[in-house]
Amino acid sequence: MPPIIRSTITYIEDLFRGNAGGHDAAHSLRVYRNAMKIAENEPEADPEIVALAALLHDADDHKLFHTENNANTRSFLAENRVPEEMINQICTAINAVSFSQNRGKTPSTLEGKIVQDADRLDALGAIGIARTFAYGGEHGRPLQESVQHFHDKLLLLKDTMNTETGRQLAKERHAFMESFLRELQEDLLRLDQEVLLHRSL
Ligand code: NI
Repeated sequence: MPPIIRSTITYIEDLFRGNAGGHDAAHSLRVYRNAMKIAENEPEADPEIVALAALLHDADDHKLFHTENNANTRSFLAENRVPEEMINQICTAINAVSFSQNRGKTPSTLEGKIVQDADRLDALGAIGIARTFAYGGEHGRPLQESVQHFHDKLLLLKDTMNTETGRQLAKERHAFMESFLRELQEDLLRLDQEVLLHRSL
């Protein structure tokens, strides 16, 4: 592992310490892993920009930090002697990810597209299920409300992927979520019927 990647992992672990919930260092590491998997099939992409943008994509997240102009990312990378041009490319990729999440736009650079796919993949499959219910629990949401979140948002993500590898991985994770939701609905229905039966006795 290149030293800059190792330092970045240490940096985000410190940065997110004490931040439980969806956006923590573990999320960033999974996005990094997803992004590298996608980048293997995208020879035009710069793997170092992909890696650093993936690891740092939440380092200036507005919900967690009150920084302007990617200040956390920029100062960390500058301290580690990453050239300014590269820092700008990394920030472009990061900003495209969060910008497009808000406004439904596609990132303009390939590195941004890869990191966006990688971030969306972490909302899908077993991890997506775990994160949705963890978030729901944290916010006191009833089970059905978390289930609704799958239909409103997560089940739509597979059609928004930018890369072929991202699409393929999303398809597998989507299928897993669908079968989980089917099973869950059956169990909930069964429970409802048992409760009704119980009441009529
Ligand atoms: Ni993220």
